[in-house]
Amino acid sequence: MIRSSSFSLCFLILASLLRRSESACRRGCDLALASYYVSPKDNLTYISSLFGVKYTDLGPYNPNIKNLNSIRTGSRVNVFFRCDCINGDFLGHNFSYVVLKGDTYNTIARDVYANLTTVDLLSTFNSYPVTNVPDGAIIGVVINCSCGDASVSKDYGLFVTYPLQPGENLSSVAAANGFPSQEDLLLKYNPGVNFSSGSGVVFIPAKGEPFIFFMLVRRHDNGMDNNALIDDGCDAGESMVSFTQFEGDAWNEEQYFTRAT
Ligand SMILES: *[C@@H]1O[C@H](CO)[C@@H](O)[C@H](O)[C@H]1NC(C)=O
Ligand SMILES: *[C@@H]1O[C@H](CO)[C@@H](O)[C@H](O)[C@H]1NC(C)=O
Ligand SMILES: *[C@@H]1O[C@H](CO)[C@@H](O)[C@H](O)[C@H]1NC(C)=O
Ligand SMILES: *[C@@H]1O[C@H](CO)[C@@H](O)[C@H](O)[C@H]1NC(C)=O
Ligand SMILES: *[C@@H]1O[C@H](CO)[C@@H](O)[C@H](O)[C@H]1NC(C)=O
Ligand SMILES: *[C@@H]1O[C@H](CO)[C@@H](O)[C@H](O)[C@H]1NC(C)=O
Repeated sequence: MIRSSSFSLCFLILASLLRRSESACRRGCDLALASYYVSPKDNLTYISSLFGVKYTDLGPYNPNIKNLNSIRTGSRVNVFFRCDCINGDFLGHNFSYVVLKGDTYNTIARDVYANLTTVDLLSTFNSYPVTNVPDGAIIGVVINCSCGDASVSKDYGLFVTYPLQPGENLSSVAAANGFPSQEDLLLKYNPGVNFSSGSGVVFIPAKGEPFIFFMLVRRHDNGMDNNALIDDGCDAGESMVSFTQFEGDAWNEEQYFTRAT
């Protein structure tokens, strides 16, 4: 009796650990970037409002944009956000969006959030009928993210959630993100993904351009976790960080040095 019940207990614990290690996360990371594809009517004030940030804080993440007041249609803007472990299940961030007249899950995913989320995710995390989301409702918009993967490389700890556009392919995406001859690296972070599919998101390590990034990171929960039984990959970025620490809960600036290889 005792033997068999402790055996089943062990089995249950083992089974749940195995299940967790397959798909679950234990914790997120302070920083991830969303690559927002700029459409004709967009401006940075609008884009940053969707993510609850100030557009004046976006400069450091967008070294290619010379003037924050004028962004080109067809370019991309990096917006920073916290990458959380949602329901212990997967890495993402739940943004709040107030539904406007004429919005549907489809237009919210495709136009408002520029394919950073999907109708599936919107339907999963909200209870409104797909075709009839009431004006003024506050819905959750979940955007996936990555904190890295120590088994691929420890050199990268900051990742861009990058929606693929029609016409892109592995080599164009690699070149556009500073990895012209490292297509295999992008594939390792996105196993099984078809980079020519023109839809879906991929995760791309953020590479500083020119070589230095200035980033805003919350100081307080930046502790790295080395004894994780279930490694969610959040240790991966340790090697590239150099801190300037501040006290308190204030946002502060840190310098990340990434080497161009
Ligand atoms: C920015 O875009 C929003 C949404 O399209 C629009 O309502 C707003 O007037 C625009 N602001 C500027 C300064 O162009
Ligand atoms: C989102 O994806 C659809 C279908 O691929 C595409 O037509 C649309 O232009 C994309 N939206 C943005 C803002 O990139
Ligand atoms: C996501 O945000 C929405 C809107 O604020 C909220 O109603 C919902 O409970 C949140 N869901 C999760 C899983 O955090
Ligand atoms: C986001 O992650 C969830 C859970 O892993 C997955 O079901 C969903 O397809 C992902 N969404 C996108 C746009 O990749
Ligand atoms: C990838 O896309 C680029 C730019 O759109 C194009 O010039 C190139 O021929 C494409 N490469 C492949 C292998 O399809
Ligand atoms: C990738 O997607 C493109 C566009 O949908 C398709 O033409 C191509 O056959 C796909 N490649 C693979 C290997 O599935």
